[in-house]
Amino acid sequence: MADAGLSVGRCVIVTDANVGHLYGDSIERSLTDAGWRCRLVTLPPGEPTKSLSQLSEILDAALSFGVDRSSPVVAVGGGVVGDVAGLAAALLMRGVPFVKVPTSLIAQVDSSIGGKTGINHATGKNLVGAFHQPSLVLTDTGKLSSLPLAEWMAGLSEVVKTALIWDADLFSLLLDRWGAILDRDPQTVSDVVSRCAQIKVTIVQADELESGRRAILNFGHTFGHALEKVAGYAGVTHGIAVATGMRAALHLSELRYPEQDFSRALELVNRLPEPAEATATNIDELVEAMLMDKKRVGDRLRFVLLDRVGSAVLVDDVTDQEIRSGWKFSLGPFK
Ligand SMILES: NC(=O)c1ccc[n+]([C@@H]2O[C@H](COP(=O)([O-])OP(=O)(O)OC[C@H]3O[C@@H](n4cnc5c(N)ncnc54)[C@H](O)[C@@H]3O)[C@@H](O)[C@H]2O)c1
Ligand SMILES: [Zn+2]
Repeated sequence: MADAGLSVGRCVIVTDANVGHLYGDSIERSLTDAGWRCRLVTLPPGEPTKSLSQLSEILDAALSFGVDRSSPVVAVGGGVVGDVAGLAAALLMRGVPFVKVPTSLIAQVDSSIGGKTGINHATGKNLVGAFHQPSLVLTDTGKLSSLPLAEWMAGLSEVVKTALIWDADLFSLLLDRWGAILDRDPQTVSDVVSRCAQIKVTIVQADELESGRRAILNFGHTFGHALEKVAGYAGVTHGIAVATGMRAALHLSELRYPEQDFSRALELVNRLPEPAEATATNIDELVEAMLMDKKRVGDRLRFVLLDRVGSAVLVDDVTDQEIRSGWKFSLGPFK
């Protein structure tokens, strides 16, 4: 913490019940041993925690604990804890320092980097939020060993996304080393996490506030967010939604760039889990949900497509017919 310019005082540690049970005490103890006075806030696990009421819990706990402008909020957990705790850090006294200890694969390769914080609203995902960069991100891939299998697979969606939009070599590595990745071979995991994290840093540094190219990180997400919304956020994980969205976006890429071969990209995406059969198969409802997406530009939705594996393009003129064809292709097995 001292390396990040944070001087000892009060700090608020935010975690969820699953992660707190595993790592909360040891992190609180090591901060206390280093001289920090800690207040631990343990939230319920899961996407519904990205809410105004849980945000209030953190703000109430921090302010009644007597934090000042130099007191950091330390988020220990996955993307949910990082997003809601980060928004609390952005709001407390117009911004206190923020430290992240990402413990899920999604958080280590994606959500801990880039400074986006937020909560969900009934009208859509992540619609209330702020940019607030962390002062420090402490990533230990060893913590991933306790991650449940479903969450591991969900995180691999963001890993596959990163390779598809940016790095054809990483894409080949994922295809070749998929077995070692599924077995969570420590060296392979460490390589993959650090490559993905570095790519995210590069993309964010070039366009911190997402005025342009940063949007390529949303590959699969315009479709995916609609699926999450229609499923009521709790019905499908972010990773499964993104995998479904990437299948649809790859189909659109095939339609736009027929000279390219996306079959191996589809092969890789098809190794990711699919949504449960009962989840959101009504295409009209999904299209309606997409129109609420905050990534729309005026009346148009902005899509991220691939013009080849390892290279993404932003496209604003996707037709309703193409969108429906993407959904049919992606959800086809369930229709
Ligand atoms: N801010 C961003 O840039 C950004 C980017 C990508 C995703 N996100 C957000 O991140 C969220 C998804 O992230 P997530 O999948 O990490 O969600 P999550 O925080 O809900 O974590 C998934 C589950 O794994 C558990 N868990 C986390 N680490 C664990 C560990 N080491 N051992 C055992 N269990 C552990 C959690 O308790 C939870 O039950 C979504 O809300 C998404 O919108 C944000
Ligand atoms: Zn994502």
